[in-house]
Amino acid sequence: MQNLETSQAKTAAQNLSYDRTDWQRGYESQRNESDYWIDDIEGKIPADLQGTFFRNGPGLLDINGDRIHHPFDGDGMVCAIVFSDGRAHFRNRFVHTEGYLAEQTAGKILHRGVFGTQKAGGWLNNIFDLKIKNIANTNIIYWGGKLLALWEAAAPYRLDPCTLETIGLDTLDGILQPGEPFAAHPRIEKGKNGAGDRLINFSVKPGLSSTITIYELDESGKLLKNHAHRIPGFAFLHDMVVTPNYCIFFQNPVSFNPLPFVLGMRSASQCIQFSPDKPTQAILIPRNGTDAVQILETEPCFVFHHCNAWEEGGEVFVDSVCYESFPNVGPDGDFLEIDFDSLPAGELWRFKLNLPDKTVQHQVVESRCCEFPTLHPNHVGQPYRYLYIGAADAPMGNAPLQAILKVDFLTGEQQIWSAAPRGFAGEPVFVPRGLSVSPDTATPDTATAEDDGWLLMLMYDAAKHRSSLVILDARDITKGPVARLHLKNHIPYGLHGSFTSNVLLP
Ligand code: CO
Repeated sequence: MQNLETSQAKTAAQNLSYDRTDWQRGYESQRNESDYWIDDIEGKIPADLQGTFFRNGPGLLDINGDRIHHPFDGDGMVCAIVFSDGRAHFRNRFVHTEGYLAEQTAGKILHRGVFGTQKAGGWLNNIFDLKIKNIANTNIIYWGGKLLALWEAAAPYRLDPCTLETIGLDTLDGILQPGEPFAAHPRIEKGKNGAGDRLINFSVKPGLSSTITIYELDESGKLLKNHAHRIPGFAFLHDMVVTPNYCIFFQNPVSFNPLPFVLGMRSASQCIQFSPDKPTQAILIPRNGTDAVQILETEPCFVFHHCNAWEEGGEVFVDSVCYESFPNVGPDGDFLEIDFDSLPAGELWRFKLNLPDKTVQHQVVESRCCEFPTLHPNHVGQPYRYLYIGAADAPMGNAPLQAILKVDFLTGEQQIWSAAPRGFAGEPVFVPRGLSVSPDTATPDTATAEDDGWLLMLMYDAAKHRSSLVILDARDITKGPVARLHLKNHIPYGLHGSFTSNVLLP
């Protein structure tokens, strides 16, 4: 009672930008799969916006009424919004993974989840069950003619890019051995001087020492190179950044004691212990695959996502979203009831890695709670001026994402557009203006400025209990959306997405 009163007093005093019940409803399962032309549109879809926006995330937060413990354990549901000649078509489909099909048939939870979901019946029913369900829920990319739903601990699921029907587990034409995972955070390096684009991704086999494998694929999906590296310690690596010469990882200062997981008492992620007295390690793997791996130490912090990295004057810069410690939900916790004030908020940090001296300096660029960074695709691995990121409405404190923040690193200026009080934000995706316009027909000034493009973001509107695709002009997001495409249903808060200039309709 004491706690409840304190919490209510705190809420009133803080004058929150959101209502918790609103936020919670964005986590309701969406069981319906639908496809239709979107007819409820405010504003106008930009004429040059042609192509397909994909987004992945947990579609089910329960199995037949039994709640899963954490959204990260939810079955992947892919949304596709196709822009064609000023119109937009919506489609969503569940990824028909082996586990999804089995649980839908059984009508109950059959698998343990990495983030805390357990089978009913307590530890006795979970002991020694180390099989984890591939939920294919984290990212979705269209590469080499294949649409791939990614989840970092397993191989990708391939979907039909037009209908989103599941084709099955995919080895990338034999690049992946049976059981070999493929991370959910590939980086795409734009080809220069006539060279094609490259997809660079990784996989991790964690253990007492861990193996990181790097893959580089050409535009057709063919393997250009792969190389594996053993690094000391248990590696918990969700994301990676690239520069022309390096793949860069941040090894969070965590230890892993698998015993409670093996005994059925905790999930794998709940066995991860953050060590605030140990440094975070920046691991630089040379992309040539032959030079020695370099490991530098910096402040203890926890990173899920990096924004970008680049090389400049012999130093390597990395921008990341940093947490003070690992934000986890314990076995007895309920993620819908989390006390935001007790959890660390993501902040934007810039790291400067001096390789000859083996030193790292960092500065906090933005302390407003933020997550899900994006930038102009031409600047991946290169110096850049503009970053766009999901952010809290308030400048201080931890809170759900309700806004988009634009940071201009050159001038230090910021712009913000907020959907508060009843709108909730997700990951923005930057689409350069005229991406699908051929160079011959493009006007001379097309896409010359780094912020000349559109930000696409699926937001949840609690007032109507539905989701909307919001399109912002990245040059000035304070003007508000140029278009809001209202969907007929809500889409639970998602994870990552991507855009391709291919108009993928059946
Ligand atoms: Co991620």
